[in-house]
Amino acid sequence: MSTNSTHTATLDKASVLHPFTQLKDYATGKAGDPTIVDTAKGIRIKDSTGREYIDGFAGLYCVNVGYGRTEVAEAITKQAYRLAYYHSYAAHTTDELAILSDRLVKMAPGKMSKVFYGMSGSDANETNAKLVWYYNNLRGKPGKKKIISRQRGYHGCSVVSGSMTGMSFYHDHMDLPVANILHTGVPHYYWGSQEGETELEFSRRRASELEAMILSEGPDTVGAFIAEPVLGTGGITPPPEGYWAAIQEVLRKYDVLLIADEVITGFGRTGALFGSDKYSIEPDLITVAKGLTSAYFPLSGSIVGEKVYKVLEDGADRVGAFSHGYTYSGHPIGAAAANAVLDIVERENLPGNAHEVGSYFQEQLRNTFGHLPIVGEVRGVGLMAAIELVADPSSKTRFEPQLKVGARISKAARDRGLIARAMPHGDILGFAPPLITTRSEIDEIVQIAETAVREVMDELSR
Ligand SMILES: Cc1ncc(COP(=O)(O)O)c(C=O)c1O
Repeated sequence: MSTNSTHTATLDKASVLHPFTQLKDYATGKAGDPTIVDTAKGIRIKDSTGREYIDGFAGLYCVNVGYGRTEVAEAITKQAYRLAYYHSYAAHTTDELAILSDRLVKMAPGKMSKVFYGMSGSDANETNAKLVWYYNNLRGKPGKKKIISRQRGYHGCSVVSGSMTGMSFYHDHMDLPVANILHTGVPHYYWGSQEGETELEFSRRRASELEAMILSEGPDTVGAFIAEPVLGTGGITPPPEGYWAAIQEVLRKYDVLLIADEVITGFGRTGALFGSDKYSIEPDLITVAKGLTSAYFPLSGSIVGEKVYKVLEDGADRVGAFSHGYTYSGHPIGAAAANAVLDIVERENLPGNAHEVGSYFQEQLRNTFGHLPIVGEVRGVGLMAAIELVADPSSKTRFEPQLKVGARISKAARDRGLIARAMPHGDILGFAPPLITTRSEIDEIVQIAETAVREVMDELSR
């Protein structure tokens, strides 16, 4: 490490509380020094030692347009010089904000009406929960407040969004979940299907379980169902056949709103503009973040459907102003960044690239890993994919957790210059490269991943 980097590492260890980091191992040096990320271009990042990595996860599935896009940096700079900030309370706005909102309402699936802005996917889901409660209060159904999420769903880390997240290690020791947030079964056919059950039957079973939960709680107490079109952090798992049709039938029957959490799937990742387009989902509320600005600036949105918005507007004479907002709601620099990013998404047809290069990626992954004796399932859609690692594919036996197979493979890939994420639930190697990734870059990713998987497979067999 250079003197400068040593200085950075020392300051960092002394003063940064890092997310998702073993604090003791980091503080005592057992986990080594921090990776100081220094520069980036295209799909590659470089650390302070000059080592380059292919970012096979686009940061945290967010840098969709790739790194170093000067036109986005210029849009941010231009807006910062012109007007660095003004709030959007009490009907204040900016050109960039109005243009962005019109664009989002038009491009989003379903009948959308308005956009409310935040800074993160977590706060946008917090807003969506409040919108569900507010909507039902205004239409005289004050008991209809519970929100059903799914096991292994991921919706963020704040209090309500973290409660919606359906993995216990996000709840443990944090006093989550809060009341009135429930979790129904995960639509993962590989792990969840019963002997002889088809995908369609499995999907219908999951929908029946949802219906049973709504009935046992009482339909008048259930306000919304929240789900990612494609399960993300819980294991990058596309829905089984017929899942969304069956689920939506149940939601309509019991007047339960549907929140589509498109934080990962929005703006092209699945090969369609939105995951909802891909799976014929008709949401009432949509959560967007990440790809909205490709992470060049923190910005999220709750896109509000006509049905919900109308109730809000009709209720205004009775309840007064819509009493929710953040200092940075509709930040003009965020809006300028989003407009510049969406220009790129449209001009370069990134959903189309995610579809085309993504199909190639999925095929290469299946061909390379599908037959390996430690691989149970290769799955994905567009430019998001996962390899499920198991001790014995024929009996679907998991590895002992202490073997840390997913983490070891992720590290072996990293040592060879590829970032592929060990997903937090089970032994799963995840990929979500930027949407600008080319076929030849896919070849590089698959080749490095194969070397890493084979290396750990050999270690395990010894
Ligand atoms: C589907 C989904 N929703 C919400 C979030 C939370 O977003 P943030 O980390 O910006 O709060 C994430 C983050 O990964 C996500 O994947």
